[in-house]
Amino acid sequence: MLARNSERLASLKEELSTSTNKIHFISCDVSDYDQCKAAYDIVKGEFGSIDIAILNAGIGLNSSLSIPHREVAINTMGINYFGIVNFGHILFPYFREKGSGEFIGVSSMADVRGFEGSGIYCSSKSAASTYLESARAELRRYGVRVMTIKPGFVDTNMTKKNKHPMPFIMDATKAARLIYKAINGKKNSYSFPWQTRFGSYLLSILPDTVYDKLATLRGDIGQ
Ligand SMILES: NC(=O)c1ccc[n+]([C@@H]2O[C@H](COP(=O)([O-])OP(=O)(O)OC[C@H]3O[C@@H](n4cnc5c(N)ncnc54)[C@H](OP(=O)(O)O)[C@@H]3O)[C@@H](O)[C@H]2O)c1
Repeated sequence: MLARNSERLASLKEELSTSTNKIHFISCDVSDYDQCKAAYDIVKGEFGSIDIAILNAGIGLNSSLSIPHREVAINTMGINYFGIVNFGHILFPYFREKGSGEFIGVSSMADVRGFEGSGIYCSSKSAASTYLESARAELRRYGVRVMTIKPGFVDTNMTKKNKHPMPFIMDATKAARLIYKAINGKKNSYSFPWQTRFGSYLLSILPDTVYDKLATLRGDIGQ
């Protein structure tokens, strides 16, 4: 388990530990390549081999593009996009050589269009989704599975601060169970809940002129 806050990781380890599993946690900022590489070396050294990596780290925020926003964009891309790229850079060659491996990236259905007030988050997630899709196409022939998870709204620390409506928001435990089932089911891509997936599909096929008119009415559909 990797994240920046080691105290929370320690308490999660305590909660999840049983006599039959072995859980390690490492404090790691996924936007920092050197920390990702150091974490990979520790895990590889401790467990010998890596079979699956779940790239879930992300930050979500509402941000206006009509005020200066470069720092926010760099920070968000650093985590939501480069957090995945950093591990792709390390793990794809390793999985390719091994002839197996699973790389599961958590993106969002917010990748579908640019929403007002979420331009930075949406663009970080569309970059992540496209990167994962290309990796899937390229690495399949080497026995490597690349999967994209796209949640709609889930009730977590990220969404607690939101003031706007969050249609079909899902309990985090239920979302985790669905993600776990989808990973075991060997899907390539999994978007949930179905209502948001359907709404995203409709948005994706709207002509730009129609979407532009609707978008000014306010339209976030996911974090
Ligand atoms: N909640 C939603 O509605 C929703 C919808 C669509 C997609 N998602 C995506 O689902 C993923 C999980 O989000 P969540 O809702 O569970 O958010 P969350 O409750 O805020 O959790 C985010 C997790 O990412 C870790 N993290 C953040 N920045 C990091 C960094 N620089 N390096 C390493 N770890 C970092 C955090 O740990 P530390 O702070 O300790 O580092 C935390 O464990 C994200 O990629 C998010 O974009 C969420």
